[in-house]
Amino acid sequence: SDALRLGIAGLGTVGVGVIRIVQKHADMLRARTGRDVVITAVSARSKDKDRGVDLSAYAWENDPVALAARDDVDVYVELMGGENGSAKASIEKAIACGKDVVTANKALLAHHGQALAEAAEAKGNVVRFEAAVAGGIPVIKSLTEGLSANKVERVMGVMNGTCNYILTRMEDAGLSYKEAFDEADGLGYLEADPNLDVGGIDAGHKLALLSSIAYGTQVDFEGVELEGIGAITIEDIRNAADMGYKIKLLGVAQMTGRGLEQRMSPCLVPATSPLGQLVGGTNMVVLEGDSVGQIVLRGAGAGEGPTASAVMADVMDIARGFRCSTFGQPAASLKKTASARAAVP
Ligand code: NAP
Ligand code: HSE
Repeated sequence: SDALRLGIAGLGTVGVGVIRIVQKHADMLRARTGRDVVITAVSARSKDKDRGVDLSAYAWENDPVALAARDDVDVYVELMGGENGSAKASIEKAIACGKDVVTANKALLAHHGQALAEAAEAKGNVVRFEAAVAGGIPVIKSLTEGLSANKVERVMGVMNGTCNYILTRMEDAGLSYKEAFDEADGLGYLEADPNLDVGGIDAGHKLALLSSIAYGTQVDFEGVELEGIGAITIEDIRNAADMGYKIKLLGVAQMTGRGLEQRMSPCLVPATSPLGQLVGGTNMVVLEGDSVGQIVLRGAGAGEGPTASAVMADVMDIARGFRCSTFGQPAASLKKTASARAAVP
């Protein structure tokens, strides 16, 4: 048959979300792509864990690298996470075997996305990663498809829901940073290494990917000026409020005469602006193009359904035969650029 066969490594929040969509919307996926989209094999650390979905129809692999190499897998879907280790090794295996790859792994992509995409494209395959930036918000598609004829003038956004949650709780409930952090921890919002969230690193990974797509430049995470939210006090929040501002962990990327400026740091934004009104764990990305003007995208940047929605958008593009690079142009054609320090600290 002409079915598109998925191998999914990682059966946590996002992996289970993807399985639920494939199982509940099989007819819709076929109608929209003209093909069956099926899962043939899966992998996770523990085979016996009850994950709340029926896995009995799928082959099991203990080793994601073996999953990536299976003959009955057309698209390797990496949803384990981690900057190196199994995620990187298995994606490299999938690429070596001539398979397309879909991943939500922003940490891995911020460091190795350029090389992985180039390697895949050299073999006529793609690495797609809509879910890696702002979860359910289709921001990469907006840039590479909807705004593809625009020169991008600025990209801005709140791209870490956990930080926005913490800052919102400090503002709305008067919690200290520590109390808000502990509350987010209790709700399971924090990454295994919380510094990825509160240190601005996770959001920096996402900004580096978006910048690359927006400006046609090589992914440059090292070029992102990073400052987290750990030093923000309730007094800072109150002083900002007195002046009509909110404090947001805001990413800004723009091309200047000196090179690409990428900054992820706590910023004052007017309380009445769309960014100022963004509360809780939500994300917002603001795109500015020379023809379109300003576009504001808002939605869930994390969670099972939203993130799986974005993963499946990539899978469906592949099912339809849409084989453009996620970068909007071949990865090998992305330019190396100087990184400029931001004018405003
Ligand atoms: P998660 O809930 O922690 O699940 C990770 C899964 O990977 C688990 O099923 C785990 O197996 C499996 N795994 C880990 N190491 C493995 C290995 N060496 N071999 C085989 N399986 C392994 O993670 P998640 O939240 O779904 O996130 C997955 C990816 O999506 C990450 O890259 C994350 O950054 C990205 N992402 C997540 C969100 C979100 O809202 N959660 C949003 C955007 C992007 P066990 O279950 O057996 O332990
Ligand atoms: N830790 C991330 C966040 C998860 O809080 O936004 C989604 O990438």
